[in-house]
Amino acid sequence: MTFTMMMRKKLMQNLVISLIIVLSQIPISCDTNRNSRGYEYFPDMVYSRAYETYAPNPVLPNGMTAQPPVKGTIPVNMVPYQYPKTPEGLRLAGLELINPVEPNEENIARGKFEYNVFCANCHGIDGRGDGNLYANGKYPSEPPSLITEDMLSRPDGEFFHIITLGSAIMGPFASLIRSEDKWKVILYIKKDLSGKN
Ligand code: HEC
Repeated sequence: MTFTMMMRKKLMQNLVISLIIVLSQIPISCDTNRNSRGYEYFPDMVYSRAYETYAPNPVLPNGMTAQPPVKGTIPVNMVPYQYPKTPEGLRLAGLELINPVEPNEENIARGKFEYNVFCANCHGIDGRGDGNLYANGKYPSEPPSLITEDMLSRPDGEFFHIITLGSAIMGPFASLIRSEDKWKVILYIKKDLSGKN
């Protein structure tokens, strides 16, 4: 056998093998049931060996990878609110909580911004209780004016309590507004909106 003949035979052999491989893949690649991903060449580190956050976990106590926070811990920057949603809680919050925010222009401006986002739709841009949501009949209960003398004479802590826990039909803004911004909203109501009385 000459060298060329040997080469030709080898080439034929390779061709046949390649053809068999290609043909054998057709039924797999045309698979309409997509449960198998077929052969994967060099998956490398595509599949993590670590547990996914919400995957079952044979090692951890309740069989889940994501564990609830340890009892008694709180998220960074969260200040737990200690007054219950009762008339007594409201009274105590009014007596004990002091507005820590300085009444300067910048803080009042921030309070105005937050007020217009979170309160004005019900209590009105000027605080008179005539916000769009109520005025157009979509909201069933008339929000009170925030700029009556009675309302403005209530301590800041009571406002903070009401914003945090809600009041009757008004929902709570617990973590929707940062504590610091709640105090700024109160500043805005008392220092600026009050002038519209
Ligand atoms: C979805 C409508 C709605 C929004 C938004 C809303 N309120 Fe109210 N608010 C009400 C209604 C209705 C009442 C009356 C509930 C009641 O009888 O205590 C009320 C009551 C109040 C009271 C008086 C509660 C009392 O004890 O007399 C204050 C103060 C107040 N809201 C402040 C705010 C502030 C500040 C915001 C924004 C952070 C806000 N509200 C957002 C509907 C709303």
